[in-house]
This record gives sequence, structure tokens and C-alpha cells, in this order.
Amino acid sequence: MQECARIVDAFAAAGGNFIDTSNRYTDGASERIVGELVAADRARWVLSTKYALNTRPDDPNAGGSHRKNLVQALDASLRRLGTDYIDLYWIHVWDVLTPVEEVMRALDDAVRSGKVLYVGISDAPAWIVAQAVTLADERGWTRFSALQVPYALTARDVERELLPMAGALELTVTAWSPLGGGLLSGRYGSDRERPQDTRIATAPGYSDLMLTERKLAIADVVNRVAAQRGASSAQVAIAWLCSRRQHAPVIPIVGARRPEQLRDTLGALDVELTADELAALEQVSAIEPGFPSNFGGRALAYATRSIASSPTATSSGPTCLRHRARARGSGARTAPCPA
Ligand SMILES: NC(=O)c1ccc[n+]([C@@H]2O[C@H](COP(=O)([O-])OP(=O)(O)OC[C@H]3O[C@@H](n4cnc5c(N)ncnc54)[C@H](OP(=O)(O)O)[C@@H]3O)[C@@H](O)[C@H]2O)c1
Repeated sequence: MQECARIVDAFAAAGGNFIDTSNRYTDGASERIVGELVAADRARWVLSTKYALNTRPDDPNAGGSHRKNLVQALDASLRRLGTDYIDLYWIHVWDVLTPVEEVMRALDDAVRSGKVLYVGISDAPAWIVAQAVTLADERGWTRFSALQVPYALTARDVERELLPMAGALELTVTAWSPLGGGLLSGRYGSDRERPQDTRIATAPGYSDLMLTERKLAIADVVNRVAAQRGASSAQVAIAWLCSRRQHAPVIPIVGARRPEQLRDTLGALDVELTADELAALEQVSAIEPGFPSNFGGRALAYATRSIASSPTATSSGPTCLRHRARARGSGARTAPCPA
């Protein structure tokens, strides 16, 4: 508990104000600890927690994104956190079964009750999020403000559909496991002895998932860039993430086991990667865009005449849906991210 307090104090001292947890993390202990640590200055914190993962394996109603689980999970989280409202309430994972209408209407009720200020969605397909946001907009219900996805140099597949969707729908992106669970912290690389005391080393099955040849090659380049510019590997990995603003702002959810780790990682705020460094990181970590992004036939849409001579073009250039979208935004301001 004292170590947690030191981490939260270091974060607050650096200007951080956004804490992410879940009703399932450490069986609810995480929410209790966070609640205790923010109690003295609750209004300052943007507190986010999640529901939908099952909390009683023998009870099908204790998991899922449906209304019954939402109502009971929300009240239990409020009790553990010792607060009467949650700033940002996430669906932890899309449950596949519950109709989108039920989920969005139930979340809207939670907001109207005052127990929740904003809602977000984590670990869901892009088409579900797009359907849910469109439905909420059409019916005047609360829409998602934010998206939570795994995003790091070692996990870029969200760039295919989820990030462009977030940009088009004006969702803020929060990136979980931004250091690949610790892989990009500088302690791993093909030339480094494997540490035994890390989460990757000790969590069952995690090392097989994380320590692949490709991921270690990415860690190697991160380590090299870090050494060349005199930064830490964690700083380089987080600075890269913060540079990924092509579609939507990306807020890394940094995880730290110790205050020194957090202080080190927050040093990323002073790191601006050069074009050469970004190119080296791109080269080692790029993913195949897949269909339809790589479909050559898309060029045929404009092949017979230029955009400038199109009868629908305007003097200010072609418009896109994103720029025509209504101005929307949440009032909450979250943790610092450079650029
Ligand atoms: N929505 C979801 O499904 C989902 C899933 C996972 C996580 N999350 C959220 O994302 C947050 C972050 O995820 P994560 O913990 O996996 O993030 P991460 O930043 O990828 O990994 C954090 C781990 O890296 C190591 N580390 C961190 N900073 C370091 C530094 N400066 N130097 C050396 N090592 C460092 C520490 O582990 P070791 O010291 O053990 O190496 C730490 O536990 C979680 O707390 C949670 O809120 C959400």
C-alpha cells in the first residue's frame, strides 16, 4: 500500500490526474487501494474503472455488458472506490451477446443517474463501436468518449481499423500495455540476459506470448535509439506512442511497479523523436495494412479525372466526414501527453 501511495504521489507531483482500474483487477483490491489513495482530493482525479469481465465464475449474470451486470457492477465499484461517481466508466470487453441498444441505453441511464460522467469502450471490434456511437447519436443517448486498446511498437494492429475509426468518431484513444507489458523497458533484447523478477518472467504463459523473435527485434531498435540519444528505452517507446496522432490523440496508460519506473517513464514528455529515429522504429515494427487499405482498386475511384476537376470539389478542397462531424467533446482533461 505504501508503494502504491508513492507511485500515486509521484504521478500527482508530475501533474498526472488520470487513473485507470477495473472491477476485476486483483479481485477488486485495485479499486479499494485507488479509492483510498484519491479520497483526500477526489475531485482532482479523473477516475476510470471498468465492468463486463465475470466476477463470480459460477454466475453468468456476474459478467457481460448487459444491464443487470452493469447495475450491480457499477454499485460494487462505487462502494470499493468509496466515491459516489466515476469519471469514465468502461465496458472492459465486448461480450458478443448483448444487443448494442441495451448496452447504450443502460450506459445512458448510468450517466443520467449521476453515477457516471462519461463512458468508454475497451477491447471491442471497430464495427461494434461505430454501430454503438451512431445509435447513441441518433437517439440522443450518451456516446462513447474514449476507446481503450492495446497499442505499442510491438502491437500495432489497432492501426488497421480501430484508430481510423476513433479519428472519424472523435474518440480519444487510451493505449494499454504501452511498453508491451515491460518488454520495451530496456530490460529485454536479443543481446540481454532475461531478467527473472519481471511480470513477463513470472506471469504464467506471458513470456511465451511476449518474447518472440519479432518483438525482441523491436526491443533491440528501441534500446539502440535510447542509447544513442541518452534516454531510457521506456521513454523512447512512450514518446513513439505519443507521436502517433495521425488519427486521434493517444494517451498511454503507463503501468509502473515502482515510483522510480514511473518517474523514468514520465521523462518521455521531454523526448521528441527525430525523423531518423521514427523511421528506424517504423521499419522494424510496421505491420501489413491488410484489405481494404492495401487494395489497389481504390485508386480507380479517382482514376478517370482529377479531384480538382470533379463537379463535387469545392474551392476549399474535398471535405471528409471527420471534418464535417459535429464538434463534440468531453469536459474531462486527462494525463499529460507531449505534442
Ligand atoms: N483494457 C484492457 O484490457 C487492459 C489490459 C491490460 C492493461 N490495461 C491497463 O493498462 C495499464 C498498463 O498496462 P501494463 O501494465 O501492461 O503497461 P506496460 O507499461 O506495457 O507494462 C508495465 C510494466 O513494465 C515495467 N515497467 C514500466 N515502466 C518501466 C520503466 N520505466 N523501467 C523498467 N520497467 C518498467 C513494469 O513491469 P516489470 O518491472 O515487472 O517488468 C510494469 O509493470 C494497466 O495498469 C491497466 O490499467 C488494460
